[in-house]
Amino acid sequence: MGKGIESSLVIIKPDGVQRRLIGRVITRFEEKGLTIRGMKMMRVSSALAGEHYAEHKKKPFFKGLVEFITSAPVVVMVIQGVDAVAVVRGLVGATNGREAAPGTIRGDHGMSLCFNVVHASDSSASARREVALYFTRNELVGVPPADYSYIYENRDGSLV
Ligand code: CMP
Repeated sequence: MGKGIESSLVIIKPDGVQRRLIGRVITRFEEKGLTIRGMKMMRVSSALAGEHYAEHKKKPFFKGLVEFITSAPVVVMVIQGVDAVAVVRGLVGATNGREAAPGTIRGDHGMSLCFNVVHASDSSASARREVALYFTRNELVGVPPADYSYIYENRDGSLV
């Protein structure tokens, strides 16, 4: 069952930025027909990383994860579309780059579990929480793209 228009938080992690993959990653989302509602390059603070990855606080890899995400600039994006959370996760691929299917971003660009090029929200609830952590409302664009009528069929006002 579709969930309607959603937003997902995507981060091009330090490895993706340092390896000059920003353009390729953004292109995957754009070519699919998803919309970028907000985007910025930033350095993640330890406090923000701790909040973002709070669910992993007790995991053995937590310290390394925070060190990595704060180690160099990242690009954060809010990606919007119908069922965007699931669609984005499909494009991103499995967490471990070695296991991610060819054709996915991680499958095509990564060999690591920790250095896995991108982060993407894993549920609608996580997406709402994560978007609010990284963006203020006025940093997000609200105007629907002009090409929506060619990307979705518009039946009874709903996008299908
Ligand atoms: P991400 O989608 O950013 O969400 C949490 C991150 O933790 C995940 O991508 C991986 O980079 C990392 N991660 C998950 N499991 C492990 C693990 N077992 N060891 C190291 N890093 C992990």
